[in-house]
Amino acid sequence: MYDHQSLILGAVLVAAAIASAQSTPALKDAYRNDFYIGVAINAAQITGQDQRGDALIESQFDSISPDNALKWEKVHPQPDKYDFRLADQYVAFGEEHHMFIVGHNLVWHEQVPAWVFHDAQGNLLGRDALLARLRDHIYTVVGRYKGRIQSWDVVNEALNDDGTLRQSLWFKIIGEDYIEKAFQYAHEADPGAQLTYNDYNLENPAKRKGAVALVKKLQAEEIPIDAVGIQAHLRLDSPTPEQEDAAISALEALGVKVAITELDIDVLPSVGYGPTADVSLHVRQDPKLNPYVKGLPDSVQQQLADRYAAFFRVFLKHRGALSRVTFWGVTDAQSWLNNWPVAGRTSYPLLFDRNGQPKPAFQAILGVASER
Ligand code: XIL
Repeated sequence: MYDHQSLILGAVLVAAAIASAQSTPALKDAYRNDFYIGVAINAAQITGQDQRGDALIESQFDSISPDNALKWEKVHPQPDKYDFRLADQYVAFGEEHHMFIVGHNLVWHEQVPAWVFHDAQGNLLGRDALLARLRDHIYTVVGRYKGRIQSWDVVNEALNDDGTLRQSLWFKIIGEDYIEKAFQYAHEADPGAQLTYNDYNLENPAKRKGAVALVKKLQAEEIPIDAVGIQAHLRLDSPTPEQEDAAISALEALGVKVAITELDIDVLPSVGYGPTADVSLHVRQDPKLNPYVKGLPDSVQQQLADRYAAFFRVFLKHRGALSRVTFWGVTDAQSWLNNWPVAGRTSYPLLFDRNGQPKPAFQAILGVASER
């Protein structure tokens, strides 16, 4: 009798779980014929410690990016020491769930250890020595995941806001062809991988002009570049959807794929530096900059939803050129915007709230998919 009852109870519970999973529509299904819906995942999610986050990642998304796991300082902390423990788990996670796996990133001026640019005596390296290090790093990292990581952000944030090349140590020591070299090495290490140039503020016409010129230069030199990533760290008040539309149009006209790579929409007060995603920016804490500690007012929640819908209408318009739309995090609790550019703020830029529940923005994006 007991056994019979528990069998029935078990069956009812399983049915309820399946029904609830089936009744929660998935973003990846709504946009299946358009582009991948990606998400940046963190160490707790990669290692299975964040089970609620993992359930959302597995049910809603069909592409992943690592928020930090593949950055130089993580995989290559010392000259002769690579550490692939977390990165291996990241790639295995994506394979287990049949996802489009992104590698982020190979060359950046941030989260790269100081030793990379110096010799054992502490002097700056010369061009050839730094190129040798760059090649070793790219061959080792890209080579390890050959055929398993489908798309690499080869160079991240090489441009200034005025469209000129950033005076990073990569640029200063090697010269402007460090970009060409990085793409060449990545192509040699995995000829099948999609190779991407990734940056923020490409909605700004001056910076976009710089990106267009850069892509054209690489194309003229027959350097293998397949895609441009628009980070899309947006705010409630800027840029406009029309500016996003113009940015995607200008890049797609070059014949490359376009990816939205780090989407979030910041609802917190601006710190007054204009639009930026410069991770080196640090602004002092101030309660005026952190107004929603107790919760987000409905009016702002609605503004956020409307804005996500407006941007997804733009993305859909470009569905032929867009390979993916990746959110920079699963829930608001996980967002980097809780700690940048001001530490310890309560931010609300993503689709799932701090309890992992879908926000009105989630429903709004689903709604856009069914407007067709
Ligand atoms: C951020 C991560 O999300 C944070 O955890 C880390 O502390 C700093 O970097 N542009 C990028 C991403 O290309 O790599 C950055 O990620 C966010 C801005």
